[in-house]
Amino acid sequence: MDSRRISERITRMAWIDKAAIPLQSFVRKTYEAMGPTGKKVEDAMHGKFLGHPLHPALVHLPIGAWLLAGLLDPWGGSMAARAGADLAIAIGVIAAVPAALTGATDYYPYGDASIRRLGGLHALLNYAAVALFLFSWISRAADARDLARLLSYVGLMGVMVSGYLGGLLAYEKRIGTNHSPIPEDETAPEEWTTVARLTDIPEGIAYRANAGDVALVLVRRGETVDALANACSHQGGPLCEGRVVDGCIECPWHQTRFSLATGKVVDSPSVYAQPKYPVRIENGEVQVAASMPEVPLEVETPNGRASMR
Ligand code: FES
Repeated sequence: MDSRRISERITRMAWIDKAAIPLQSFVRKTYEAMGPTGKKVEDAMHGKFLGHPLHPALVHLPIGAWLLAGLLDPWGGSMAARAGADLAIAIGVIAAVPAALTGATDYYPYGDASIRRLGGLHALLNYAAVALFLFSWISRAADARDLARLLSYVGLMGVMVSGYLGGLLAYEKRIGTNHSPIPEDETAPEEWTTVARLTDIPEGIAYRANAGDVALVLVRRGETVDALANACSHQGGPLCEGRVVDGCIECPWHQTRFSLATGKVVDSPSVYAQPKYPVRIENGEVQVAASMPEVPLEVETPNGRASMR
């Protein structure tokens, strides 16, 4: 099966936007309405505290529970199997709530049509499956077991198809993967390399430069220059086109903020720290190397000595 053709076909399904755009807008407005608390909740939902997306870690519980119910249901003559299947359905429905919330949080920033439609169909199938499992749970309580089993098997098929689409999002569209260059990338120079003159870099404005094959964003604050990888770890957005705000560089695509001092994520949606490179200033030249020297050095700047960062 050619997965690329499947995702191209889904990208042409404009009808998905009728549900996808309102869903994205609803999630965005909900977080905005919650103010600073909303930002903290959103960071947690993305998985900032883990340094890893939270959604893929949470989906295993409902899927596993519903699969277990699917295995137990054919043995419905046994009281224990019936009770186990019913419990698994209930656990799956409850566990689907945080899985859906984290998924919607990861999904809402994307404006790109192919990701919006693929992710939208993934979400719609999941919501439909959760509804089917919920009705299956209710039917079990009413002892309508044939209907309950039918609903849960149809729900399971929906989850399987949706899981495939989730795989396309992760492996083909690279949603949730780290898009920044690897700090130890062999194309980054091991030796100190001049990337700009200090006077060429405007104060507090992102400036693009190259160190070997690695694109950098430089930010000058007085006599200090910070160098981060230019390709945003979220989806590869150009940080050199972003704003410098509150000691951070803000990505222009989905507004992740990275600390200039450490490269760490300050505001999601990215959950991966941005590679940060050591910088020194020699005779007015800004020099960058691939890795931090073991012993911090001090260098001369026009205003005296300064330590390298
Ligand atoms: S590419 Fe999405 S926040 Fe940078």
